[in-house]
Order: sequence, then structure tokens, then C-alpha cells
Amino acid sequence: MKRLSPDSNRIIPILAAFALCMGMGMDRIAFGGPVDPATYQSATVCAGCHPEIYRTWLSSQHATAFTDPSFQLPYDRIRRSTPGKTLACERCHNPMRFLLAPGDPRAAIFAQEGVTCDFCHSVESASASGPFPRYRTKPGIKYGPRGGKPGKSFHLTKFSRLYIVSDFCGGCHEFKNQFGVSILATYSEWAESFYRGEGVHCQFCHLPQLFDARFIDPVGNKGPLDHAMVGGHSRERLARAIPVRATLKISGSEAVLRIQLKNELVGHKTPSGIPTHRLRLASTLFDASGNPIGRKDELIERVLGDGTGKPLEKPELIFTVAKEVLKDNRIGPKETREITQVFQLGNGKPATAEIALTYELATPDIAPGLRMIEIPISRAVIPVKHGVSAVIVALIALAAVVALLAAAFFLRRRVASTET
Ligand code: HEC
Ligand code: HEC
Ligand code: HEC
Ligand code: HEC
Ligand code: HEC
Repeated sequence: MKRLSPDSNRIIPILAAFALCMGMGMDRIAFGGPVDPATYQSATVCAGCHPEIYRTWLSSQHATAFTDPSFQLPYDRIRRSTPGKTLACERCHNPMRFLLAPGDPRAAIFAQEGVTCDFCHSVESASASGPFPRYRTKPGIKYGPRGGKPGKSFHLTKFSRLYIVSDFCGGCHEFKNQFGVSILATYSEWAESFYRGEGVHCQFCHLPQLFDARFIDPVGNKGPLDHAMVGGHSRERLARAIPVRATLKISGSEAVLRIQLKNELVGHKTPSGIPTHRLRLASTLFDASGNPIGRKDELIERVLGDGTGKPLEKPELIFTVAKEVLKDNRIGPKETREITQVFQLGNGKPATAEIALTYELATPDIAPGLRMIEIPISRAVIPVKHGVSAVIVALIALAAVVALLAAAFFLRRRVASTET
């Protein structure tokens, strides 16, 4: 029983799904018709037996790749200006469209599911570059990282090595436009990094075990994988991935802030992917009474231009008309970026500097008034003294708190024992 399903609360959904497949209310699942294992299925069918995976996928950007307003609005502008051009976008944002015969009524359901289970799990071969289609698929057999014994599930399963390597993701996470400008290069950034040599593929970081699998499978240690595939939208992930250190020194009439930003755990450049994402490093200098006496900002980003030096902001233009790279100061895998910010001192006497790292998403469409969605990553206060690093300061503070707590504890114990 234990090995029957890769998901946690498995027995009931499996029985339910089998019951459904056996004819009881068959028409409730899968597009109003019986489940035919030899055709592509909606994610809601998979949900019956893979509930945890379904739940995490539902929260992913893959699930909303087509319906998300941040995609729909630029897509709609292309549709109105150059209708034929939208198909190119759907290759990656609505991939099921190309697997169905024209006029198939299931197309509308699949569009709601964006990059859905049965697209990813029907892939026989993939290529990370070149013309579309980049994926060759076959319905019916579910390809995956483990394979299974025949007869254990209602669908066939087959092991495919492709599922554990980056090339699988590369077909969608790599794109050059007709001018040869690289729009998405996450795959090649990874391929040029040391992670490739180490055999650390996208899946290692983006499809972790959902929870300690030993609870449900003590022998194989195989549990469901987290399909949320979080990227830059996850704050905790970013804080761990890009640690910041800094020192602040006064020399003559200048305050010099030396910052080290390390791409510690990102398997490609940071930020990566579509150039509407960027990192902002903001430093503010404060005097002893906490008044700001200077501020400097550094943007870590890639900016594409239209060929005349004008930066492009709208996603559909970035994809279709970008002709040049105007700026690219993103941080490569394992690279440490040294940033020195020099503040000219007037009358104010600096006491601390605060540095804040923020992940910004341009939102010209989804929130027109608000130019950027800001995700704070980390914040550190650096005292002026002898350039003590923020980490050390935090450790000293922690040690002081622990010492205080310990002292308070022993004091209370002594008071209590003298009272009795
Ligand atoms: C009736 C229950 C049921 C439904 C519905 C179902 N699965 Fe499965 N699936 C299983 C079971 C059980 C296994 C484990 C198979 C084994 O170990 O032999 C499995 C395994 C898998 C695997 C693992 C293959 C591998 O190599 O690791 C994939 C991928 C998969 N299913 C995808 C899907 C997708 C996609 C759907 C929806 C189209 C789906 N499943 C619907 C029961 C189901
Ligand atoms: C973007 C592509 C993609 C989508 C969408 C996707 N998967 Fe997966 N899935 C993968 C890859 C890649 C692996 C293998 C990862 C590994 O082994 O490191 C995997 C692993 C699995 C496995 C085997 C491991 C396990 O957790 O038991 C199952 C079952 C599975 N997926 C089911 C599903 C279901 C059900 C859905 C939809 C709710 C889904 N997948 C959506 C790419 C995808
Ligand atoms: C069929 C195309 C397709 C495949 C295959 C695919 N992706 Fe994606 N992925 C997308 C699209 C499209 C988006 C953006 C969705 C949106 O926001 O509109 C995306 C978004 C993401 C994000 C979220 C990015 C962010 O900004 O937070 C991550 C992480 C990601 N994919 C990782 C992967 C990994 C890892 C794989 C391989 C296991 C993979 N993808 C396979 C199309 C794909
Ligand atoms: C060593 C771990 C690691 C590996 C390997 C890795 N990633 Fe990431 N990825 C991350 C982290 C951490 C983030 C969040 C930080 C960021 O966005 O820079 C991220 C972010 C992303 C994003 C969002 C980009 C952005 O800046 O908004 C996408 C898309 C993505 N990864 C896809 C992939 C794909 C595709 C691969 C394989 C070619 C891959 N990742 C390999 C760790 C990794
Ligand atoms: C080769 C596959 C591919 C093609 C073709 C493609 N995209 Fe994307 N798109 C992606 C991936 C992958 C992401 C996520 C990258 C990331 O998060 O960094 C993305 C992200 C986006 C985003 C940002 C969504 C968000 O939530 O921030 C928009 C908007 C977008 N694409 C619009 C388009 C439009 C419009 C077209 C057609 C002109 C298009 N895409 C063509 C793969 C593709």
C-alpha cells in the first residue's frame, strides 16, 4: 500500500478516482467525458491522486502563466495590433494549445491551466534552443523521474532522465528574439555556471521535497515534490540566496560604505528571466539622532533597448522589438559583487548606515499607479565604528540578549530558592 501513490493522503483519493474511473460518475471528471488515459487530461484529474502536488502547482506561476493579468494585458495589446504574433507567446504560456486538434473544446480548459501537469508529464524530448516546437510530447504515458511498476496506477508511467536535468526547463526558459537579442537566458546562464559541472540542475533548487518523505516512505525516502517552483517572488528564498555584508568607514570628509553582495545560492544570474525584474540596493546614512543625511541607490538589472538607445519597459515590446542590451550588471552564480558608495559629508556626522536590498517587479499593467511591486529581501544597520561587519554586530547583539536572558533566569531561580 505504501508505495501505491507518491502523494501523502493517498488512499482515499485513489479509491475515489478508481471508483470514478470504474463508472460511478465518470462524466464528472475530465472534460465531461470518460477519462481516456490515452489523451491529455486536465490538472483536476491528476488532483484526485496527487493532491499535494496539485495544491503546490496551483500556487505556481506555471498554473497562471496564461490567465495572469500581467500576461493577459500585454498579450491583448499584441492581439489587437498584430494578431498573428500572439501564437509565439502561447508556445510557452499556453503550451497545450499546440497539442490539440484545431477546434478541440478542451483548449479553453487547458488555457485556464497554463503550464499544466499533462504538458510537462507527456514530454518525450526537449531542446533548450532553436525553433518551436521545442517539446515533443505523447499523451498517455506519464514520464517522470522515477518510473513505476506497470499496473500500479491508472496511467502508465515511464522513467525519463530528461525530468531530472535542466534541458527539460530550458525549452521555455531560454529565448532569443528575431534580432538575436537574448530575452530569457536562465538556462544558458545556468549552463555556463559551475552548477552544470556539479550536476546541480534546476530541479534540485526548484522542485524540492515537499516535506520529510521518510514519514510516508521510510525505505525509498520519496515523497511528493513541491511544484510551486518559487523564484524571485519568494522573500525567504531571496534572503538566503543573496546575503549582504558591509562596512562603514569615515575618511576625511567622506563616509565610505563598502558592500558585498553575494549570489550565494542562485543557480543562474540574479535577477534572471524577464528583464522587468530587478534588485535595488538602497543605502541611507544616518546621524547620531537618526536623521538621514545621505542616500544612494544601485540598481542591479538588465535593460534592453529599441535600437536607438531608448529603454523598453513593456513586456510585449521587450519580447518583440528589443534590439540591444543597454545595461547588464546582474550578479553571476557564486559571484561576489563589491559596491563602494562614497558620501560627501557636510555638517552631519554619520553614526550608522542602513542598507536595504529589495526585489522589484515592474507593474505597468497590473497596478498602473504603482510603478513597482517591492519585495523587501534584507535590511542591515551598519555602525560607523571600525567597520564591523553587520553579521558580527548581529551576533554580538544576539549574544548580549542571550546573556541577559540567562542572567534574568538565574536571578529568578535564586529569588525563588531564597523564598522557599
Ligand atoms: C487514479 C489515480 C491517479 C490519477 C488520476 C493520476 N495518477 Fe499519476 N500516479 C498514480 C500512482 C498510484 C502513481 C505511482 C505509480 C507507481 O509507482 O507505479 C503515479 C505516478 C505518477 C508520476 C510519476 C512518474 C515517475 O516516473 O515518477 C507522474 C509524473 C504522474 N503520476 C503524473 C500524473 C498526471 C500528470 C496525472 C493527471 C493527468 C495523473 N498522474 C493522474 C496515480 C494517479
Ligand atoms: C513545469 C513542468 C511541470 C509541471 C507543470 C508539473 N510537473 Fe510534475 N514534475 C516535473 C518535473 C521536472 C519532475 C521531476 C523533478 C525531479 O525529480 O527532481 C516532476 C515530478 C513529478 C512527479 C514524481 C515525483 C513525485 O513528486 O511524486 C509527479 C507524480 C508529478 N510530477 C505530478 C505532477 C502533477 C500531478 C502536476 C500537476 C498538478 C505536475 N506534476 C505538474 C515537472 C512538472
Ligand atoms: C511550457 C513552458 C515551461 C516549462 C516547460 C517550464 N516553465 Fe517555468 N515558467 C514558464 C512561464 C511561461 C513562466 C512565467 C509565468 C508567468 O508569470 O506568467 C514560468 C515561471 C517559472 C518560475 C517563476 C519565476 C518567478 O518569477 O518567480 C520558475 C521558478 C520556473 N518557471 C521554473 C521552472 C523550472 C525549474 C522548470 C523545469 C522543471 C520550468 N520552469 C519549466 C514556462 C515554463
Ligand atoms: C542553485 C539553486 C538554483 C538552480 C540550480 C536554479 N535556480 Fe532558479 N532560482 C534560484 C533562486 C534562489 C532564485 C531566486 C533569486 C532570484 O530570482 O535571483 C531563483 C529564481 C529563478 C527564476 C526567477 C527569476 C527572477 O529573477 O525573477 C526563474 C525563472 C528560475 N529561477 C528558473 C530556473 C531554471 C529554468 C533553472 C535551470 C536552468 C534554475 N532556475 C536553476 C535558485 C536556483
Ligand atoms: C520561450 C518561451 C516564452 C515565450 C516565447 C514567451 N514567454 Fe513570456 N515568459 C516566459 C517565461 C519562462 C517567463 C518567466 C520568466 C521569469 O519569471 O523571469 C515569462 C514571463 C513573462 C511575463 C512576466 C509575467 C510576470 O508575472 O511577471 C510577461 C508579461 C510575458 N512573459 C509576456 C510574454 C509575451 C507578451 C510573449 C509573446 C510576445 C511571451 N511572453 C513569449 C516564457 C516565454
